Amino acid sequence: MDRLDFLKSLGLTAAALVVVGDLSSCKKNAKVDLSVDMGTSQYSSLLNPNSAVVVQNVIVAHTPTGGYVAVDVACTHASCDVVYTGASNKFSCPCHGSSFDSNGAVLNGPANSPLTKYNVSQSGNVLHITS
Ligand code: FES
Repeated sequence: MDRLDFLKSLGLTAAALVVVGDLSSCKKNAKVDLSVDMGTSQYSSLLNPNSAVVVQNVIVAHTPTGGYVAVDVACTHASCDVVYTGASNKFSCPCHGSSFDSNGAVLNGPANSPLTKYNVSQSGNVLHITS
């Protein structure tokens, strides 16, 4: 490989990194505005306490106390999808063991930032989730 080819390959790598960086920031900054109709079979499980569903990168949980919470499904450590456990009312990450309370606050690392929490309002069987 001559010097010109080497410099071209460096330029291509740098351009690829910029594109990847832009895509990840788009995902994190996307505005959330979702309606979840628990009257449909797709989301009817949410009528039961201790349950959760994932809708467009948002995990919506019905807590043991009867409220609803919604957080970004991506763990703040390295973006694995978190899961909700109703019995302990917390979110946990299967990749490296981070856990978060029902408000998204970090309980155990390695994550050191909270999950992004969204606003949830309810009208009948429909949840409205917004950023
Ligand atoms: S990605 Fe969640 S703990 Fe590492």
